[in-house]
Amino acid sequence: MSQSNSMSNPSKTTWDSLWCNATLATMTASGTPFGLVSNGAVGIQDGKIVWVGTQDNIPSAQLSSCTETFDCQGQLVTPGLIDCHTHLVYGGNRANEFEQRLKGASYTDIARAGGGIASTVNATRSASQAELFAAASQRLKRFLLEGVTTIEIKSGYGLDCENELKMLRVARQLGEQFPVQVITTFLGAHATPPEFANNNDAYIDYVINDVLPQVAQEQLADAVDAFCENIAFSSEQVERVFKAAKEHNLPIKLHAEQLSDQKGSVLAARYKALSVDHLEYLAPVDVGVLKEHNTVAVLLPGAYYFLRETKLPPIDAFRKHSVPMALASDSNPGSSPVSSLLLMLNMACTLFKLTPEEALLGVTRHAAQALGKQTDIGTLEPGKTANLVCWQTNNPAELSYQVGANLCQVVMFEGSVAHNASQPDEAPLC
Ligand code: NIG
Ligand code: FE
Repeated sequence: MSQSNSMSNPSKTTWDSLWCNATLATMTASGTPFGLVSNGAVGIQDGKIVWVGTQDNIPSAQLSSCTETFDCQGQLVTPGLIDCHTHLVYGGNRANEFEQRLKGASYTDIARAGGGIASTVNATRSASQAELFAAASQRLKRFLLEGVTTIEIKSGYGLDCENELKMLRVARQLGEQFPVQVITTFLGAHATPPEFANNNDAYIDYVINDVLPQVAQEQLADAVDAFCENIAFSSEQVERVFKAAKEHNLPIKLHAEQLSDQKGSVLAARYKALSVDHLEYLAPVDVGVLKEHNTVAVLLPGAYYFLRETKLPPIDAFRKHSVPMALASDSNPGSSPVSSLLLMLNMACTLFKLTPEEALLGVTRHAAQALGKQTDIGTLEPGKTANLVCWQTNNPAELSYQVGANLCQVVMFEGSVAHNASQPDEAPLC
């Protein structure tokens, strides 16, 4: 991409930036695959997209007065990518459990023997806020270099007031210090900590009465999540968490039907969950309830792959009921030690047989909906935040096709260039 500057124009209608000569994958429901616009251009002003169209329709006043022009040289431009489900902040790692699983132990065996999430809770509690920030920063940078401009980060490895708040503060701090929008989720009901061993109900009381009110008071969470599973919490316990979230006016999400069918998705949808996530064991007959309540199905192919799961999520039922499918990395130390959202596009296509268009929708428009942010991000449309990525291809399917290639060239975050692969020394990320 080449860049040129023209004289700035004091008139109010002057654009700050113009990205021109682009193949736009707008990801809007325009009726064309990927919402494609050939010979496209995007006008940006005050951090927002103000104009999207074809090259020959760029208003002449803006064309001549625009402060900065990027010639995309025919390459693909998409909305900034959105990873709508991660556990990016944690202490330690679980490479030892990976080895145990390769020798035959299951994820459930390890969890029941006191490992799994509990071992990451120990490591996270022992780490300082600065240590957690440093470790998560390294992971975050890998996502940003691939064009991620919004990332959701959950708590859930602290499991007490002090440490859940510590995790959420780190997540907020990442959003302040890197060119990325961080959406935080309180996942206190992730596992039962040792202080409440064999007393899940008492732990849920503690989450609802002690931790959540502080999280809400400090505005540290944008949503509330829980893990509904036979190794975690029952649907009755989860329902109590949902009711409490509602009292604090926080939207809900749920880890559901990952290892067994607990009907968590049905419950969550009835509570108008933004999303239900994992879903391998979701019965096709329950998919209609998601549609009824506008709940997004978040697919996590990294966890499916890493746990060597063989049961597929009910993709055909999602299609039949037009339930939006989002895709996320689930980046975490136990079930998905993944640092690449682009790899998830490929895995969703190869493992779940999503089309490349469905995969890209899963990390743009549908991921935005899974976060309740569909009016701000996820498509290239006037009024949306100016989060844009220019890729080294003109074919959007190539983002799903390549394995291990990073075609990301230039990232714009809220109207400013956050990364330019051809000028790595000037890139704030490096
Ligand atoms: O999304 N399923 C529950 N939580 C995480 C895994 C957490 C862990 O193993 O550390 C997940 O897969
Ligand atoms: Fe998860």
